[in-house]
Amino acid sequence: MRRFQERLPLEALTFDDTVVLLDVVRELAHLRTLEDVMALVRRAARQLSGADGVTFVLREGDLVHYADEEAIAPLWKGCRFPIHSCISGWAILNREPAVIEDIYADERIPHDVYRATFVKSLVMVPVRRADPVGAIGAYWAERRVPGLREVSLLQALADSAAVAVENGRLYEAERSARRAAEAETRLRGELLAMVSHDLRNPLGVIAMTTSLLAPLLAPLNGRARHHLDTLNRSALRMERLIHDLLDFAAIEAGGFRVSRVPLALSRLMEQASELGPLARERGIGLELRLPERDVDVRCDPDRIHQVFSNLVGNAVRFTPAGGLITVMAEVHDDRVELSVADTGAGIAPEVLPVLFDRVQRPTTRIPGSGVGLGLSIARGIIEAHGGAVRVRSQVGLGTTFTFTLPMEERASGLDSLVAATGDAMEAD
Ligand SMILES: Nc1ncnc2c1ncn2[C@@H]1O[C@H](COP(=O)(O)OP(=O)(O)OP(=O)(O)O)[C@@H](O)[C@H]1O
Ligand SMILES: [Mg+2]
Repeated sequence: MRRFQERLPLEALTFDDTVVLLDVVRELAHLRTLEDVMALVRRAARQLSGADGVTFVLREGDLVHYADEEAIAPLWKGCRFPIHSCISGWAILNREPAVIEDIYADERIPHDVYRATFVKSLVMVPVRRADPVGAIGAYWAERRVPGLREVSLLQALADSAAVAVENGRLYEAERSARRAAEAETRLRGELLAMVSHDLRNPLGVIAMTTSLLAPLLAPLNGRARHHLDTLNRSALRMERLIHDLLDFAAIEAGGFRVSRVPLALSRLMEQASELGPLARERGIGLELRLPERDVDVRCDPDRIHQVFSNLVGNAVRFTPAGGLITVMAEVHDDRVELSVADTGAGIAPEVLPVLFDRVQRPTTRIPGSGVGLGLSIARGIIEAHGGAVRVRSQVGLGTTFTFTLPMEERASGLDSLVAATGDAMEAD
């Protein structure tokens, strides 16, 4: 048995071999997937060695996986063998090339596995000699003595491919972990959407039946009407929760859309004052500070109303009587910044970084509150508008939520030119 334990002499390579190898090295630098790396290496291995077949073998613990091949007739692509009972395993475990002129005269070869193939002679080199991650095999249909050139070439190729193989494996592991996480998120979203959707029908029946019952129960005593009111309120609350769940599922799945129209900032802000009575009922003031210059913003008014309802609703819940909630706006060149500030309890600093993320935020259920989806939905709505939301808070002093909305663009370049000229003339 010839052994090649030392570094193989590169002098055995011709100029053409070196050019092909250099090309391979250059291409390897651009490949990310293991599949691409193996395809490049098997092609180059066959071209360089002139072999009738080439295999790419990966170590998987105590097994070797014949992951890829290119040959005149099928070899073992996709098969796995115990590492101790095949020649690729031998090259991996001994960290040196195996060179076999007559495979049937070598007891390291599992002869039965080879009988169905064309192979008579072979060379097997380990990939990453210090701690092999696999091996490259070259096979010939005619019995021959593989020379130093072939062995050196294959080993040089395997050495060049080692880092790319490792990177490819890491890339694949990372990709499959990401795919699994995405599949889980998608499944959760689908389940959420399905359940929320299916809950809507029976809820619709409850709401409709209570409205039919109302006139029938009208002549009855106060208690019956009280029960009916409770039923109505619960149905409404459930309806809101289901809408929130559906919105949340759509945001998570990336399928949330808004339909934007131009709207005056002052009108948009007035939506927030609808919650004034709720605040006053609890002894809290609600102040609206409109900007000096009114501008048009592009937004989905119903969705922004939903954002205000949650932000002001939260502020009312976390502000004690005697406190103040201020809704204000700042107009910038390309955007407006809207804020809802309160003088309430504030939010603990460790919660702030994950406040908008329902999945990461610690669960705190307060009686009378929703499921805690409000801020995640608000962020989804604002981001769907091309804006962003942020929060500042100090425990005991209060909280300010600020979100941006893009400004309505001027109709055309000409319009803005006319407007700009007009402004300049006035300024004179
Ligand atoms: N203005 C605020 N002051 C103090 N804490 C707040 C304020 N706004 C939000 N929070 C905290 O953030 C949590 C999440 O708010 P979010 O609006 O997402 O959920 P929720 O109001 O509990 O339920 P939902 O909005 O679904 O009805 C609140 O439960 C509260 O702990
Ligand atoms: Mg809320």
